[in-house]
Parts: sequence; structure tokens; C-alpha cells
Amino acid sequence: MFTPEQYRIGLLLALGMMAVDGLAASPGGPGLGVPATAEDIARRDTSVFPDGSGLPPGQGNVAAGKLLYDSQCAFCHGPHGMGASAEELVGRGKLNSATPDKTLGNYWPYATTVFDFIRRSMPLHKPGSLSDADVYALTAYLLHLNGLIGADTVLNAETLPRIIMPNREGFVRMWPEPTGLR
Ligand code: HEC
Repeated sequence: MFTPEQYRIGLLLALGMMAVDGLAASPGGPGLGVPATAEDIARRDTSVFPDGSGLPPGQGNVAAGKLLYDSQCAFCHGPHGMGASAEELVGRGKLNSATPDKTLGNYWPYATTVFDFIRRSMPLHKPGSLSDADVYALTAYLLHLNGLIGADTVLNAETLPRIIMPNREGFVRMWPEPTGLR
């Protein structure tokens, strides 16, 4: 039988050989995928931050948003942003009730995140299919349905970050508030 010391040295040698073997088999990695081009990265670099940085050019209004919503969103989210199979988007009910219904109007802290979310993930069956102007318009319509902006408001990279959402102070912040938001 091996002594514990011999056993330990044997194990280390075996591990070392496996490591060398692994390196020899794949000097530059597993050889999968293709390098991302600048264009690939730009297409995915769509994050919009609470202060509005990252918002694209373009604009949209409530009326245009309603047309888009009725044809592309209502069948999941309901005719006025509620009452269908997908998340309620509209409503200002209290969050501290027994069965709170979280919506854009009573839960989401930043209007800019609504834009970001719709642009990257909606409609559910075809994410990425909306133009930036479409997303501004849909954001305008949904914020209007929540009673947060008037029917004539036009949203763009300047006006959207100025909207103060009702639940903005309802979160515990892990980082200091970004400058320029107050
Ligand atoms: C096929 C059904 C479907 C369609 C069509 C659809 N959605 Fe959604 N939507 C969902 C589901 C399901 C969720 C919840 C997904 C999740 O939480 O990850 C969601 C979540 C959302 C949210 C976040 C709600 C929240 O409080 O978390 C927004 C905003 C939204 N959708 C907007 C839209 C808009 C605008 C359109 C039209 C362009 C749209 N959706 C079309 C199914 C759909």
C-alpha cells in the first residue's frame, strides 16, 4: 500500500499531467464560436440607464403608441394594459395590500427602464422587432394609461428621463443615486 505522502504526490502528478494534456489539446480554447464584430457588439449594446444615458435618437407620442399597442401587445396584456394573460401594465393600486398587483404605474422606479425593457424583450414572440420610435411611442402610451403623462406628451431622450415615477423612492438603493437625477 502507498503511504499518505506517496499517495499525495501521486495525485498531484496525475493532476499535473491532466492539466498539461488539456493545454496541449486546446492551445487557444475549445475553438467554438466566431469573434464578435464591432457591429455585433453595437446591436447588443442597448442598455438604457435610469438617468437616460443610452437612450437613442428618435421620438414617439401617445397616439402612435396606442396603434402599436392595440395591434402588437393587447392580445397578451389586455386592451388597456390589464385583464389578460400577461403582466398587468396599468394600475395604481397600493403595493402594501394583501394581494398587490405590480404595474408600471405603482412599482417601476424609472420611466427609462420601461423603454429599455420594451426595446429588448417585447413583444414576447418577436423581441428586437420594434424601431426606437415605436418604443418611445409605446412607452408614452403606457405611461399615459397609468396617468403619468398627458395625451399630448412626446417622449424622446430629453423628456423621458424627466418623468418621476410614483414608486421612485420605494426601493432600497445599493449604490448612490446617479448624479443629475434630482
Ligand atoms: C405573447 C404575449 C406577449 C406580447 C404579445 C407582449 N407581451 Fe409584454 N409581457 C409578456 C409576458 C409573459 C411578460 C412577463 C415577462 C417577464 O416578466 O419576464 C411581459 C412583460 C412586459 C412588461 C414588463 C411588465 C412587468 O411589470 O414586469 C412590459 C412593460 C411589457 N411586457 C410590454 C409589452 C409591450 C409594449 C408589448 C407590445 C409591443 C408587449 N409587451 C407584447 C407577454 C407579452
